[in-house]
Amino acid sequence: MASLSCSTTILVLLLTIFSCLQHFSVCSFEFRVGSSKGWLVPSANDTNIYNDWASHNRFQVGDSIRFKYKKDSVMEVTQEDYNKCNSTHPNFFSNTGSTVFRLEHPGSFYFISGASGHCEKGQRMIVRVMYPDDDSHSLPQHPKSSAFHAHAAISLSKLLSLNFVLAYLVSCVI
Ligand SMILES: *[C@@H]1O[C@H](CO)[C@@H](O)[C@H](O)[C@H]1NC(C)=O
Ligand SMILES: *[C@@H]1O[C@H](CO)[C@@H](O)[C@H](O)[C@H]1NC(C)=O
Repeated sequence: MASLSCSTTILVLLLTIFSCLQHFSVCSFEFRVGSSKGWLVPSANDTNIYNDWASHNRFQVGDSIRFKYKKDSVMEVTQEDYNKCNSTHPNFFSNTGSTVFRLEHPGSFYFISGASGHCEKGQRMIVRVMYPDDDSHSLPQHPKSSAFHAHAAISLSKLLSLNFVLAYLVSCVI
């Protein structure tokens, strides 16, 4: 009896993890900007390195990106300031050497280096965060649609059931 309910629990757990992997909003990831090189002025023949990196990743709401750098900084700015490399009034600024930025909403985020002249040399990046359940690259007009809220509610119930199943599995193993 006990072993049967344990294997059922494991099955439910696997199914829950699987559905979690399908809907990344429960499982969030941390991306390392620029992989091992980190956040620095790109070499002259590789000025698009950060946008190339960003366009090869699929960012979901709730994911984070980590910037690692030395004697530099990270700013999150408007599209206009990104285009002009204008660092005078960022929405976000950090110069700690290791900055984690959480992607809180779908749509585009614009990052530039705050160090003088670095943005102009290509140390800037656009991160496009996917809309929930959007498998295409077309972005809807209204980020805060009702579909978005419904999805968030489902994710919460999934999270709760995952915790419940994990707690049950632990008690089952003991
Ligand atoms: C171009 O970049 C690569 C590294 O990506 C480097 O090894 C090479 O020396 C560079 N070439 C020139 C001409 O700068
Ligand atoms: C940067 O933005 C500020 C505020 O909008 C503006 O006053 C300033 O002239 C801009 N600087 C450049 C170089 O565009």
